[in-house]
Amino acid sequence: MAMPGAFVIFGATGDLARRMLFPSLYFLDADGLLPAKLRIIGAARSALTDAEFRKQVEGWVRERAGAFFSQPAWESFVTRLTYAAGDSTSPDAYRVLQEKLSGAEGGALFYLSTSPALYIPIVKGLAAAGLTSPPNGVIVEKPIGNSGRTCDEINSAIAEQFPESRTFRIDHYLGKEAVQNLIALRFANALFEPLWNRHAIDHVQITVAETLGVEGRFGYYDEYGATRDMVQNHLLQLLCLIAMEPPSDMRPETMHGEKVKVLRALRPIRDSELIEKTSRGQYTRGVADGKTVPGYSDEEGGKASDTETFVALCAHVDNWRWAGVPFYLRTGKRLPIRHSQIVVEFRDVPHSIFKGAPLMANRLVITLQPAESISLTIMNKTPTLTQGGYELQPLSLNLSLIDAFKGENRVRIAYERLLLEAISGNTTMFVHRDEADAAWLWIDRIIEGWARTGLKPTSYPAGSWGPAGAFALTERNGHSWHE
Ligand code: BG6
Repeated sequence: MAMPGAFVIFGATGDLARRMLFPSLYFLDADGLLPAKLRIIGAARSALTDAEFRKQVEGWVRERAGAFFSQPAWESFVTRLTYAAGDSTSPDAYRVLQEKLSGAEGGALFYLSTSPALYIPIVKGLAAAGLTSPPNGVIVEKPIGNSGRTCDEINSAIAEQFPESRTFRIDHYLGKEAVQNLIALRFANALFEPLWNRHAIDHVQITVAETLGVEGRFGYYDEYGATRDMVQNHLLQLLCLIAMEPPSDMRPETMHGEKVKVLRALRPIRDSELIEKTSRGQYTRGVADGKTVPGYSDEEGGKASDTETFVALCAHVDNWRWAGVPFYLRTGKRLPIRHSQIVVEFRDVPHSIFKGAPLMANRLVITLQPAESISLTIMNKTPTLTQGGYELQPLSLNLSLIDAFKGENRVRIAYERLLLEAISGNTTMFVHRDEADAAWLWIDRIIEGWARTGLKPTSYPAGSWGPAGAFALTERNGHSWHE
């Protein structure tokens, strides 16, 4: 795809655009990574002039950039910005947009940073205005529907106008440095691959823990819950990167193909297994980040509901590499700490010669956030002399990526990488329609199972690690969560 001449953001005054998109574009520009003539057009309903809009964007960029704000970089960036006012469900909006686009060299990329209810109307509006032909492309963000069926409706409407090669479905986890580093860890090192299978690995844990609550998004969140909001996308993408076969190259079709195979190999969880393999929770009043916080139903705009704010699942990838290896997934709001971590626990030694000295299985711990690190726990002899023979203890080989790259850079916004990739026309780091479909198929079955069997979330106090069922989920198999 040729470099676009225009980057259009629908929903340009919304939260995502303010906090992520404009600051990301600003930083890309400051680093000289945007095409020289790229115009950035904000589209939204408010009646703003270009000057008023630029002023607003300046405020958002300054706030996000903090000490990294540079006046000369801003003065260059601001010349790219214009504003197209209009209601995206009316043809007039597209006439205004066409005027703003006239004279732009190259195609246009349209970022739909709006309510998903507007995705189909916008794509239709673009089509009617003749704005969907090559090389134009579209970027969409989750939630793309709230089930396989509704996701498919949106994807079908998009596919009528934009082929897969010009459709960029964002999962912002794929833009995180640490998540991209997972690909390097697995495929730029020969060390792990011979061990990366059921013969050496006992189980895998993927945890994305947040201390935040629903943060004023009760309306959205209550319709989704942790399973749709986090597992269907972010956690399953992490699982794919851990479980996928080594791809032969990094082309989009190769990478997507390997991830789809993993998602299609996820063993469906039957209704009769829901109690054993799933645990749902909802937080009640408690203490998070040192402050007393309300329970979920008492949040701003809240009400009594059966939506889960925590979920733990035991997944299996039914293929030769992973047969019999549990993948435990866990995510929740109002947990004790914010961290995202993948733990690969290796098998025990087949026979111990160290009588009386307990051995701990080797463990590879990949911490994605807040601070990126990789550690490998191995057993060591303690440097003491005892009559009983060897005394052993587990120690970690640690790699702190923050220390290794100290002073290199500010932590980039995940969107910077993804916007750059989209502008370059590369869909590798985006989610293919087949991936979204396969992920929904697995998730829908679980959610429908909960409804069929009447299984409701159980409560957990804010600031704890979720309901008792989450612990039972691993303990049943003789495992325990790494905390
Ligand atoms: C979003 C979810 O996709 O990811 C939010 O909708 C969640 O509920 C967020 O808080 C977590 O992202 P991050 O980058 O803060 O881990």
